[in-house]
Amino acid sequence: MDTIISHLCSDEKVNNDIFGVAGKILRDGGLVAFPSETVYGLGGNALDSTAAERIYAAKGRPSDNPLIVHLAKVEDAEKYCHTNELFWRIAEAFMPGPITVVLPKRECIPDTVTGGLDTVAVRVPSSESARKLIEAAGVPIAAPSANISGKPSPTCADHVITDMTGRIDMIIAGDESDIGVESTIVKIDDNGMTLLRPGGITVEMLSSLGDVTLDSAITGKLADGERPLAPGMKYRHYAPDTRLIMLDGSDEKIYEFLSRSAETDKIGILLFADEIDKFSSLPITCVSLGEHDIESEAHSLFKMLRAIDTHGCDIFYVKVPDKTGIGLAVYNRMLKAAGHEIIKL
Ligand code: TXA
Ligand code: MG
Repeated sequence: MDTIISHLCSDEKVNNDIFGVAGKILRDGGLVAFPSETVYGLGGNALDSTAAERIYAAKGRPSDNPLIVHLAKVEDAEKYCHTNELFWRIAEAFMPGPITVVLPKRECIPDTVTGGLDTVAVRVPSSESARKLIEAAGVPIAAPSANISGKPSPTCADHVITDMTGRIDMIIAGDESDIGVESTIVKIDDNGMTLLRPGGITVEMLSSLGDVTLDSAITGKLADGERPLAPGMKYRHYAPDTRLIMLDGSDEKIYEFLSRSAETDKIGILLFADEIDKFSSLPITCVSLGEHDIESEAHSLFKMLRAIDTHGCDIFYVKVPDKTGIGLAVYNRMLKAAGHEIIKL
């Protein structure tokens, strides 16, 4: 399949033409990848079950793993799901933005989109490009992250071009995703709010609206056969081919550990830029995560995970992040990338 690759630019007319072409492709049942504030999405018409099947095929994704339905404005939510008072409070506080809410679905959303569940996940992106695309399509857009299943989610156009060229109709290439990890997913039911996936809207922020229960799949390892509330949380994800291991300990202990480990293996470590000096005397590869704050780490994590295999190491290490704020999302994605391997020092 030929894939149209269109670059957004500073000329509004050019961009509007791009969204016009993309909107038509979506209405006709085709697939378009697009930028968003979290990660790039791979969109299809959420009311068309054939488009949903195409999404699963293009990603190589199991069809029991439901898709998020993206809306241009929160007022549209009631058309696709049964909203309630708590939903509108979340919407008022955090939408548009990096949050997805799971609610009972309405008939018009096909079972293929929800993987057979009777709930649907809805999100209103804050990214202007994403919203313009949904408006141009005139239909809600079902969109998973625009990566091949199992790979890190794409945070820039190049990742999408690498993964999706030849598999979908069009790629809209825009800016790097601001946040860099996928949206927070929260389920609302009689038990109140349950966090299914941590993201840019943090537990601390959600807690201002009521109690939040954390699904155990976020920080724990599922037992064989156990099912998380968000089906996607059970799949191996984000993992580079190089073995990735998380280290939990002081810098002194980590230094000693790396120096021993480097005697037998070719190793690398992901560090903040200002930490590299401490470890640069060791015969190891140090890769910078950028500025020393958790938002920057979230922003660059997936790019780093994609690049790990280019360094020719046997093992890569990364320090366990602080789990507060967006750190919980960073910790959750790292755990999956590391196959839950943590060494306590
Ligand atoms: O930031 C994001 O959410 C990005 C951008 C493109 O919007 N999308 C994204 O989609 O991360 P995806 O498909 O990679 O992840 C969706 C997650 C999966 O873990 C899936 O199992 C869960 O949402 N999910 C979707 N519908 C659900 C439902 N009805 N109940 C529980 N979990 C659901
Ligand atoms: Mg994904």
